[in-house]
Amino acid sequence: MSSNKEQGAASFLPTDRTLLVLQEAVQHCRGCDLYEHATQAVFGELETGARAGRPKAAIMMVGEQPGDQEDKEGRPFVGPAGRLLDKCLEEVDIDRRKVYVTNAVKHFRWESRGKLRIHKKPSMKEVHACRPWLDAELEAVRPELIVCLGATAAQSLLGAKFKITQSHGEVEKAEGRPPIIATLHPSAILRARTVEDRERDIGIFLQDLRKVRDFLN
Ligand code: URA
Ligand code: SF4
Repeated sequence: MSSNKEQGAASFLPTDRTLLVLQEAVQHCRGCDLYEHATQAVFGELETGARAGRPKAAIMMVGEQPGDQEDKEGRPFVGPAGRLLDKCLEEVDIDRRKVYVTNAVKHFRWESRGKLRIHKKPSMKEVHACRPWLDAELEAVRPELIVCLGATAAQSLLGAKFKITQSHGEVEKAEGRPPIIATLHPSAILRARTVEDRERDIGIFLQDLRKVRDFLN
């Protein structure tokens, strides 16, 4: 006998795979345990918030999972990491309106520390369970390029052996997918321990984003 937990999200996907329908359906997903302690599922979107029809996104950026603020608001990259991302996109002249942002995992995984909800990295099992939603988004949006922000997204799409430190900023080809470029996660940059580390990481991030911009031009 196999339970939903073993099957992941697949059986929760609707037959109509438009973003609007997917966005509604993901709220009922029980493909892993993460829905139990999250406020809501956070699906991807363009900055405009428009999910109807097929958005004109050239790039799909994939993060790890919603953070505290995303969990409460129900929108991806609206907290500190999203603000850093927006600032860096502006700096390298990538039009934010052409970027669809989403996450490898749609529910917030956290642990409590006092009154705070602290981000906890999703397991590979949870990432795998949630993949059908990401695949459906890719099919609906059909971006020209995927940008993986951080190791969780990169491992979801490029395999468990992929190393950001070695291969960030390179154009990767994976069977049946648009080209993929992986780079650092803005949350990881915000967690850098020293000012020097943070500046170095921002430099790497901007350099990779320039490659993204040049790839599209
Ligand atoms: N970090 C992520 O990976 N995704 C978000 O939506 C916010 C922070
Ligand atoms: Fe479903 Fe993904 Fe949420 Fe798990 S994290 S319940 S697979 S939407």
